[in-house]
Amino acid sequence: MEVFRICGGPPLNGTVNISGSKNAALPQFAATLLSSHPSILENVPDLSDVRFMAEILSELGADVQRLDRTTWEINPANIGHRAPYELVRKMRASICLLGPLVGRLRMAEIPMPGGCVIGQRPIDLHIRALKCLGAKVVLEKGIVKVDGKDLKGGSIFLGGRHGSTVTGTTNAIMAAVLAPGTTKIESSACEPEIIDLCDMLIKMGAKIIGVGSHILKVEGVSKLSGCTHKVMPDRIEAATYAIAAAITEGEIILNNAKSEHLGSFINVMKESGVMIETLSPDQIKVGLNQNDLNSLEIITLPYPGFPTDLQAQTCALACKAKGISILTERVYPSRFMHVPELMRMGADIAMEGASSVVKGKGKLTGAPVMASDLRASAALILAGLAAEGETWVQRIYHLDRGYDAFEKKLQALGGVVERIPESKLPKSFSSY
Ligand code: EPU
Repeated sequence: MEVFRICGGPPLNGTVNISGSKNAALPQFAATLLSSHPSILENVPDLSDVRFMAEILSELGADVQRLDRTTWEINPANIGHRAPYELVRKMRASICLLGPLVGRLRMAEIPMPGGCVIGQRPIDLHIRALKCLGAKVVLEKGIVKVDGKDLKGGSIFLGGRHGSTVTGTTNAIMAAVLAPGTTKIESSACEPEIIDLCDMLIKMGAKIIGVGSHILKVEGVSKLSGCTHKVMPDRIEAATYAIAAAITEGEIILNNAKSEHLGSFINVMKESGVMIETLSPDQIKVGLNQNDLNSLEIITLPYPGFPTDLQAQTCALACKAKGISILTERVYPSRFMHVPELMRMGADIAMEGASSVVKGKGKLTGAPVMASDLRASAALILAGLAAEGETWVQRIYHLDRGYDAFEKKLQALGGVVERIPESKLPKSFSSY
């Protein structure tokens, strides 16, 4: 295993190119299975989750070729309907294969994904969607088995206790595009990644109305063609670099970042004193003057609300702000694994139900810390960049799931970060 060693202090300055979106690319890989013809995906980020997805598609029988660092060709002429447990268990997002397999083959078998460290992650809404389309769904020995031979258009309400579901919506849409008749999906998620998926499906010949809203209408077609599609930029990666600029009091230009996808984030940053300027539809400048950071308040919600995937990184920033910040989780009420680790770095944080209350001190100190999940890893690295002294972040394999070339991009901005083997961890830290 590898660890990150970070020497905090220097402000991050320069320009960074934002990669394609993980959460857009993963369902798009799955969507290629809806056609028997090849598709090409461009601007795909180089991530372990993407490689897992590519492996799963290969195991299902698709011919998957990586044409260059960011371009993949998938030829799914002959595919089976059983997703392999060993690969699926490594990545929750493989659940988004359910819709395409049922749509194309009228059957699917996918191991039930477990919970994970960010909280319970049920799939009841995914199953509800498929049942509303006439599929029979059973859980047998931990495997979700779907018989979709009577698949047809239907009416689906996708709201749950935490609002809409992102991958549940992708499954509903992808099953519906090949189901005869009309499907109405109410309370569908409207994240930009859903819009990007719909754009791809429309290129493949799908008929979808209401894209970007909470009510979608899908007119089933008998078959879809392949397509070439460029994955949208990663809005969470972009915002993470924006926080890197703010937390180190530097100035970064984000290339290939769309401010239209980051409305709630930009609003919170501006209110807390961060300077954000949209230079063009694809370029944002972010900076912070010394001592200008004020406390902030966020409540995570489905899009266009503040993204849960930025809550941990924003918490790191709040530790450097003046005054008391409150960060409330409404999507994953227990997604606070970063809190005790930030406290090891000197942060003053109290938990109040699903809120963290951060007493900003303007100062963090380096420490050995443990990453528990993807976004917590990013939060700890951001904190390390702003801390006095050395921070060692362990279990960074979580980071590699979702940030393309993170340390290289940080180094190019002046961050003192290196990836080293765990064996080089100082002896005094290894008992931690
Ligand atoms: N939920 C249910 N029942 C369901 C599905 C979801 O109760 O059947 C609940 C969840 O437990 C959660 C809420 O609904 O409380 C929202 O979950 P959602 O289904 O929207 O999450 P997801 O589709 O599994 C995607 C992203 C996550 C991101 C969430 C929320 C992908 C591959 N993953 O997950 O990304 O946090 O939406 O925006 O798109 C990440 O990138 O770090 C990450 C975890």
